[in-house]
Amino acid sequence: MIVKSTASISDIDTRSVYVSSRSCDHYPGGLEAWGTDTGITFNRNIESWRFNRKYFDYAVTNPAYLYGTIERMQEYFKEMQGYWKELGSDCVLDLNAWIYHIASDIIFFNTTGRKFHFMAKYFNVLSTGKKIDIEDSHITEKIFKGFENAFKAIFFLITTHSLLRHTIYRKQNKEHLKAQDQLRRLLCELIQERRKEIENTPVDEPLKPDIMNLLITANTERDISHNTNDYLNRPLTDDAIQMSLFESIAASTSTSVAAFIFVVEYVGRHPEVEAKIRTEINSFFSDNPNRVVTYGNLNEFKYIEAVYYETTRINTAVPFMFRTNQREDVIAGYRWKPDTQFVVNYQAPHRNEKHFTDPEKFIPERFINDGSDEKGTFKKAFYPWGGGLHICPARNIGLAYVKMLLVLLYRNYEVKLVNADKPIQTYHDFITQCADTRAYLKPI
Ligand code: HEM
Repeated sequence: MIVKSTASISDIDTRSVYVSSRSCDHYPGGLEAWGTDTGITFNRNIESWRFNRKYFDYAVTNPAYLYGTIERMQEYFKEMQGYWKELGSDCVLDLNAWIYHIASDIIFFNTTGRKFHFMAKYFNVLSTGKKIDIEDSHITEKIFKGFENAFKAIFFLITTHSLLRHTIYRKQNKEHLKAQDQLRRLLCELIQERRKEIENTPVDEPLKPDIMNLLITANTERDISHNTNDYLNRPLTDDAIQMSLFESIAASTSTSVAAFIFVVEYVGRHPEVEAKIRTEINSFFSDNPNRVVTYGNLNEFKYIEAVYYETTRINTAVPFMFRTNQREDVIAGYRWKPDTQFVVNYQAPHRNEKHFTDPEKFIPERFINDGSDEKGTFKKAFYPWGGGLHICPARNIGLAYVKMLLVLLYRNYEVKLVNADKPIQTYHDFITQCADTRAYLKPI
């Protein structure tokens, strides 16, 4: 059943009979390496989803984590600028690939507290001259490949009917299950290493606020945030931490990259919007060109935020999500038996003129003042982060990633897209992404 109306979307999103995954009838067993009652995104057990989700919310809204991320992004962007300079000013950059690598460096650091040097690894592939000496490069390779294979595996396991997986795709099925298992073991090693590090760290020495530390120490005597939330009433097991770490990387990398790249694609086709972005950036730095951007003052970039929301309205990075009902329910006036597969189409209301004036036009201004000029439907018909109980838990940091990268890119470069005169090329796996975002970047 495909759901498009805001009333039915809201019913499905807000009732706890729905889990956010595909029906067991057709896709049993595919995620068994992880377990279907661990983590968040594919968890079919509502009680355990609720428990894990609270921990995840707690980790990704921690202020030290949010502020630290924005500070680190500025440092990593400088590193990327160094690589671009080295490659030469006349070269066309594959912006999609570069942003994927910087985002991976940031997200893996945020999650595991370790830098894996993915940008440096990518630079080494492109550079015909200078090469960067990467410490522990075999670990970088192992982690990068491990995640790449596990992402492919999840897509295959979720989209391929069990009958096909056990017949004509038997060999691929086996390989994908193996890839998931390998990543699980890799994450397990990282967690165990970290537990030892924590044990060896003196009690009065503060621990870094990365997601792994926050989850390992939650509700223990080493709790980083000294949290007094009684809902976090027991420490997490390694299995639960493993899945949350995987999700914190899997759910954030491609979404953040796609969200950012779509903005660059739209801005590249709308010079009047680019000019307003530059005005906003210049005004922020007018008193002090060296002003450091913090998580808190990202709020001042209201126009950039509006450009992001307008882009994502037209090209929603996650245009639909799956839901399955665990009990019988009534939706759109019909009664549905348990384990019915619903596809919630978040993109449909975004392009419906009932909710947005001239929906096909790119008008960032409609999102200034919280979209109050926009038929009053901003909150009811707009789903950049999905909706209801499963709404993206990390929307604060997701928005901050996109805004910070936009500020850094347009503050430092004139951006000329190679394909600005052609329609945007996209493809879709779970997420809609741009297929080709090559650009000339001219330093300002
Ligand atoms: C611009 C970046 C991002 C976008 C556009 C985005 C979008 C979304 C959307 C549309 C959903 C589905 C909600 C639903 O089912 O209705 C979602 C869920 C989720 N996101 Fe994000 N996200 C972003 C960044 C992140 C980041 C940075 C993280 C982790 C640090 C993250 C973690 C998750 C998780 C764990 C879920 C599953 C929630 C659940 O099922 O309860 N996302 N996100």
